[in-house]
Amino acid sequence: MSAKQHVQNLLDFIDASPSPWHVISTIETQLAEQTPSWQRLDETAKWTLQPGGRYYVVRDDSSIVLFIQGQKPLAETGFNIIGAHTDSPGLRIKPNAASSEDGLLRLGVEIYGGPILATFTDRDLSLAGRIAYKNDQDRIVCKLIKFDQPLLRLPNLAIHMNRTVNEDGLKLQKQTELPLILSASAEQQLPQEYFSALLQQQAGIAAARILSWDLAVYDTQKGAFWGPDSEFYAHSRLDNLASCHAALQALLDPAALPPDNTLVCAFFDHEEIGSESNKGADGSFLPDVLQRIALASTTDSEDYARALAKSFMISADMAHAYQPNFPNAYDPGHKVIVNKGPVIKVNANHRYSSESLSAAMFADWCEQAGAPYQTYSHRCDLPCGSTIGPITSAKLGIRSIDVGNPLWAMHSIRESAGVLDHDYMISVMKRFFSAPGATRSG
Ligand code: CO
Repeated sequence: MSAKQHVQNLLDFIDASPSPWHVISTIETQLAEQTPSWQRLDETAKWTLQPGGRYYVVRDDSSIVLFIQGQKPLAETGFNIIGAHTDSPGLRIKPNAASSEDGLLRLGVEIYGGPILATFTDRDLSLAGRIAYKNDQDRIVCKLIKFDQPLLRLPNLAIHMNRTVNEDGLKLQKQTELPLILSASAEQQLPQEYFSALLQQQAGIAAARILSWDLAVYDTQKGAFWGPDSEFYAHSRLDNLASCHAALQALLDPAALPPDNTLVCAFFDHEEIGSESNKGADGSFLPDVLQRIALASTTDSEDYARALAKSFMISADMAHAYQPNFPNAYDPGHKVIVNKGPVIKVNANHRYSSESLSAAMFADWCEQAGAPYQTYSHRCDLPCGSTIGPITSAKLGIRSIDVGNPLWAMHSIRESAGVLDHDYMISVMKRFFSAPGATRSG
């Protein structure tokens, strides 16, 4: 498959996944088309696993662990894990969101994670998420909801009323200046009733049965290639759906079958808000699943610890691509360039989990895959971001590396990246998954 086709598939994947809850349903749809088939495991049931079997577990609709059980004993091979996250920074609708004033109905929002707020102005926004309701059998269940048409907007102030915007930057007061305009025609109804009716209509659930919901704001603009040779692409949520998509392509690669090692993809919600939740990387989800894989496949209780000691995790999240208009934002020795390959992220204070040996192993897999690679270190006078890498490797005690593809405008509603890099990343991840004994080192 060409590099451009891989990216087209990524753009389609993101179009189908406007919220972290939709990411899981998009992945499930792809798994349903695969042979051999994938089996969903229920955390409340007892698990029976077969060597070579393909399984996945979902926790609370927005985190997922997928694995292919290795042919060889777990204690001999360990787990080959790729971790990434399903959530992206943005705006979420507050519970009692609707208010009406001066003939305009607005929805109050809460800021989720660290978006570049100014990029949310003047976009064709809409809503996606999940509705919790009581069904005909009196059970409380969730259903995904997505509005396709542009539904909401955050119009900018005209420059005539904000004369210094180009000198001072666009600053939005977070409580008073972020509510989104929804409607000018809700005069006859109470605002909250109007909004409930809208949800009821879209979800096909009677308003009286709707008990709660999670709703994220998304941009309805589709992904696009750009540049004279379409060498770049742009979309929302590339951080971090590009990494989820690359890892999934590697896991679904038929050449990887049947694997010796147990191959795992772990995609977590809540990375952008610190990972501390029942389904976040700092929660019990991945340790629970790995331990249960071990319990289901061996009777020796020491084997789980032996398997972890043999394991390796690639923590994949996006990296800051060099933007030549802002040279002072970067360390001059660590400019990572779009379309020049995956980035190994290094931080002495362990904001990234990479160390010399894991970095060397990843560099070696890049060379074996025929992919170039680059190394990133943040400026010393700027605080560095972090990832699920340090958290997960600390919890499990396994060797880990932080990598990611170069990305412009991280946490903008419209991020962009290089077409070649996505293809390179898929090749390296395939190499990691197919390398027998890949994790054995040190
Ligand atoms: Co990220």
